[in-house]
Amino acid sequence: MKEKLEQIRQAALERIAASEALETLNEIRVAYLGKKGELTGVLKGMRDVSAEERPRVGQMVNDTRAVIEAKLEERKMRLAKKAREEKLKREVIDVTLPAKKNHVGHKHPNMIALEEVERIFVGMGYEVVEGPEVEYDYYNFEALNIPKGHPARDEQDTFYINDSILLRSQTSPVQVRTMEKGKLPIRMIAPGRVFRSDEVDATHSPSFHQIEGLVIDKNITFADLKGTLEEFARELFGADTRVKFRPHHFPFTEPSAEVDVSCFKCHGKGCRFCKGSGWIEILGCGMVHPNVLRMCDIDPEEYSGFAFGVGLERIALLKYEIDDMRLLYENDIRFLKQF
Ligand code: DAH
Repeated sequence: MKEKLEQIRQAALERIAASEALETLNEIRVAYLGKKGELTGVLKGMRDVSAEERPRVGQMVNDTRAVIEAKLEERKMRLAKKAREEKLKREVIDVTLPAKKNHVGHKHPNMIALEEVERIFVGMGYEVVEGPEVEYDYYNFEALNIPKGHPARDEQDTFYINDSILLRSQTSPVQVRTMEKGKLPIRMIAPGRVFRSDEVDATHSPSFHQIEGLVIDKNITFADLKGTLEEFARELFGADTRVKFRPHHFPFTEPSAEVDVSCFKCHGKGCRFCKGSGWIEILGCGMVHPNVLRMCDIDPEEYSGFAFGVGLERIALLKYEIDDMRLLYENDIRFLKQF
């Protein structure tokens, strides 16, 4: 009996020592200590052992069982430790590897220019308002003193949706929408997208952006318009910028003017940038036409005002010395991220 037990012990310990997996350890446990295991078989044979031998043999069986259990447990710990170490090795983090770069979004030059313009006018007490891109003919033309058949309609090559609805060709309709609300005085700018059926080239696009400006109050004169736009130009292009008003015609203003600024590159001497003239045209403006005021139920005898319209792309191109408007629409990230 003693020899048998010793054999079992030996065999079990050898198998334990050779095992490389937790499952194998489990199989060994079952094979020796399980209900039908070898050691349990020995216990069953105790019947044949004489009464005085029984306690001793019982003790031996128990000792063997204890040794096998202890070894199983010890091996189990070892294997678990090994597995953990291998896992850690596999998952090791190399802190010297270069980090993955996150590409952070970037402001478009148009947006930077718009924020600059908004900053200037908000600083002068203007409100920023918006109007719809799909607009009624009435707001885009009729109420701006451009009746059906007026030649100015042709100049603006408009996308029509039907007889009375179109894609706005200018931001000026927002003037009308603001005056119509009936709250005076008004001091607002209205930035937004406009549409014209133009071919794409370096200075044209079927969709671009304008910023409309409108001031309505008592006793507003052309001097207010001049002062305001001079201040705007100096803030935008530098304190030494000079401003020139040239007579012009717009149906919704009278008198009307186009505004040039002295070339901020050559300071008026003439360069490639200003095409040799020393001046760069930046906007259209004028005193709001009495017809427009009347159509919005504002009495031109009591109130007057001025308006202006700036091309946003034009400002961005000038500010960043970009010579092709298409660059602003292609959205090539290598171009955009320079600003
Ligand atoms: N809406 C004009 C255009 O698209 C620009 C303009 C000129 C707006 C004079 C005005 C203005 O408000 O007074 O050409």
